[in-house]
Order: sequence, then structure tokens, then C-alpha cells
Amino acid sequence: MVLSVFLHMSRVFYHGAYKPPREFNWVVGVMLLQFTLLLSFTGYLLPWDQLALWAVTVGTNMMGYTPVFGNQVRFVLLGTKEIGTETLLRWYVLHVLMLPFVVVIFMAIHFWRVRKDGGISGPL
Ligand code: HEM
Repeated sequence: MVLSVFLHMSRVFYHGAYKPPREFNWVVGVMLLQFTLLLSFTGYLLPWDQLALWAVTVGTNMMGYTPVFGNQVRFVLLGTKEIGTETLLRWYVLHVLMLPFVVVIFMAIHFWRVRKDGGISGPL
């Protein structure tokens, strides 16, 4: 999915489709890219193996350095003070429920904009 989105983004870029009237759809696309990367990261934890454990340890430690709210951010992401079963459950719900829900809404806006902007653009 990450590769497909990257290829799509390259196609759109080389066709200059980020220019008016499609700037808004480009921004919606950037949001979709971020959700795709988040899906990728949350999914990485789900095998619950050594790789996953350390990826999440590093990731949540980094986010724990957020100025002022660092500890709270880390707690929200882990569901507890240290990585545990609560973390797995939290990221599972994020991966299979919340992120897909948000992605579907943004995709609907994305497709609506494609039609509103007069269909897709071609080579310059
Ligand atoms: C989950 C991710 C995404 C999905 C499912 C998706 C899907 C689509 C589809 C089906 C189209 C119409 C057909 C086409 O142009 O190929 C489209 C158009 C477009 N997408 Fe995406 N897209 C995604 C991510 C992105 C990203 C990351 C960007 C850029 C940052 C982007 C920017 C655009 C733009 C500007 C158009 C209009 C293209 C044109 O008019 O030629 N999209 N998208």
C-alpha cells in the first residue's frame, strides 16, 4: 500500500496535478499518505514479536520527547506506563478500526474532489 501510494503521488506530481484547481486534493492526498504510513506503523506491532516490540519502544520513546506533553502522549499511545497487552489492544483498534474509518472518509473527499476538479489530468 505504501508503495502504491508513493507511485500514485509520483504520477500526480509529474502530471503537475498539484497545481490549481487541484491543490486542495493534493493536500487531502498528503493526509492520506500520512494515514497510510500510520497504518503501516500500527500494523508493524501486530505480529507482537521482537521486531515489533523494539519498533514500538523506539517509536513511543521518540514521541515521548514531545515538548510539555511528552509523558501524556506516551501514555496515550501505550495505554499504560510500559509496553504491555494494553498497547497491543490499543494499536490493534487503531489499525483495524479507527485509521481505516478515517481513511475511508478522506478517500470519499478525495474522489469527490477528482470529479469536482473535472476528472484526472494527463501528461503536461
Ligand atoms: C490512500 C491513498 C490514496 C488513494 C486511495 C488515492 C486515490 C486516488 C484516485 C483513485 C484518483 C483518481 C485517479 C488517478 O488520478 O490515479 C486520485 C487522484 C488524485 N490524487 Fe490520490 N490517492 C491517494 C493518495 C494521494 C496522495 C498521497 C496524493 C499526493 C500527495 C494524492 C493526490 C491526488 C491528486 C492531486 C489527484 C488528482 C489527479 C489528477 O487530477 O490528475 N493522492 N487519487
